[in-house]
Amino acid sequence: MNKTALKVHSRFDVDQVRADFPLLSRMVHGKPLAYLDNGASSQRPTAVIEAVDDYERRHHSNIHRGVHTLSQEATSLYEAARDGLVRFIHARSRHELVFVRGTTEAINLVAQSYARPLMKSGDEVLITHLEHHSNIVPWQLMCEQTGARLVVAPMDQHGEVHVEAVEALMNERTRLFACAHVSNALGTVLPVERLVASAKARGIVTLIDGAQAVPHMPVDVQKIGCDFYAFSGHKLFGPTGIGVLYGREEILERMPPWQGGGDMILAVTFGKSTYNALPYKFEAGTPNISGAIGLGAAVDYLAGLDLDGAHRHEHALLSHATTTLGRIDDLRIVGTAPGKASLISFVVKGVHPHDLGTILDEDGIAVRTGHHCAMPVMDFFKLPATARASFAFYNTFDEIDRLAAAIERARAIFA
Ligand code: ALA
Repeated sequence: MNKTALKVHSRFDVDQVRADFPLLSRMVHGKPLAYLDNGASSQRPTAVIEAVDDYERRHHSNIHRGVHTLSQEATSLYEAARDGLVRFIHARSRHELVFVRGTTEAINLVAQSYARPLMKSGDEVLITHLEHHSNIVPWQLMCEQTGARLVVAPMDQHGEVHVEAVEALMNERTRLFACAHVSNALGTVLPVERLVASAKARGIVTLIDGAQAVPHMPVDVQKIGCDFYAFSGHKLFGPTGIGVLYGREEILERMPPWQGGGDMILAVTFGKSTYNALPYKFEAGTPNISGAIGLGAAVDYLAGLDLDGAHRHEHALLSHATTTLGRIDDLRIVGTAPGKASLISFVVKGVHPHDLGTILDEDGIAVRTGHHCAMPVMDFFKLPATARASFAFYNTFDEIDRLAAAIERARAIFA
C-alpha cells in the first residue's frame, strides 16, 4: 500500500509548517487568509489530504467483511489508524479506543450506554458551568429518562473552575463527573488530573471532553486517570465526521452496546444476539473509514513535528494576542484564567460580534462569532455573543497584528 512518506520537522519553524497546509495560502476577498477559527475546525495538512485521497482512489472497500484484497487493505489502514490514536493518547490497548462521529457522539454514547442503565432518581451527574452544549445536553436527556439530576459546579469571573468548588458538590449521590479539558468559549484549561483524582477518591466515574485540548497539549489518558476521554478529528487537523471515545477497558466491557447493527455482533438469532469484542461492540454499521484513515494520518503528521516547539509557539501567539488586543480601547477579553490555551474570546463596545466578524472577513480574517455552543457561559458574562480568535501552531504574529488592525477598522466604522 502506498503509505505517504512521513514528513519530519525536527525543529519547529512556522513557515515550513505552514507549507504543509495548502489551504493557508489561499486568498479571501483579495487578502491573504488569516485563519483564526481553529477552535471550530482546524485545517488539514497535505499528509491527511493525500491519505484520504489514496484510500479513495486505491483501497476503498468495506472493512472487517471481505477476504478480497481491497477489504483487507481497507481494514489494515483503518486499524493502523486506531493504533496510531492509541499511541497518541497513551491508551493501554486498542480495545479502549472506539471510533465515533465526534466528541458529541462520544458523550451521547456514554450518557446512554454507561449512565442511563445505572442512574436512578436522586442520582447526580456533576458538570461545570463552562461546558460546551455537547457536554450538557446529553446529560440532560439522560436525566429526563432516569430521574437523575444535573448539578453544575461554578466558575469565577475569570472563567476558572476551582477544584475545591467542584469537590464541594461531590457527594454519595454523584455517580458521574464530566468536564471539558479546555473550554472552547474561554480557553480555560481545567485541572483535570486533580479533578479526576478527587472524583476517583469518592468512587465517581469521570468523562473528559478533550475536543479543545488534543490540538494544543500532550494528552495521556492514563496520567489523567479518567474513565472516558472524547475528542473530534476535525479540530485535530483531521477530517470531519470522525472522532474518538477512549474508555477504560473494564468499564467498556461492562457497558451494553449503544447502537445495534452489523459488525458489532458475534452471532444473531431472532431469540438473542451476542456482541463482538471491544472496541467493535461500539462500532455498529459501516464506519467512516476514510475519516479514520485521515485522522490516523493527522496524528502521524503530528508525531513528525517538534510538538514542544509548536506548543511554545502557540503560547507566544496567545501572549502576543493578549497584549496586542489588550491595547485596543473598548475591547474586553472574556476569559482571563491563568494558563489558558491559545484562544481569545472578546467583545468590543459598540460593535456587535457578528458585525465584527463580517468586517474581519472582508480583511481575510476568519474568527468565530456567536455563543460558541456554550450559552450558559454567555449568560454568566451577561453577553449575547463574543468574537473568538482561536490559534493553531501554524498561525503567525503578523496575522494577530492584522486582526488588531481590522478590529480598529471596525471600531472606526461604528464610532
Ligand atoms: N465546538 C466548536 C467551537 O467551539 C464548533 O467552535
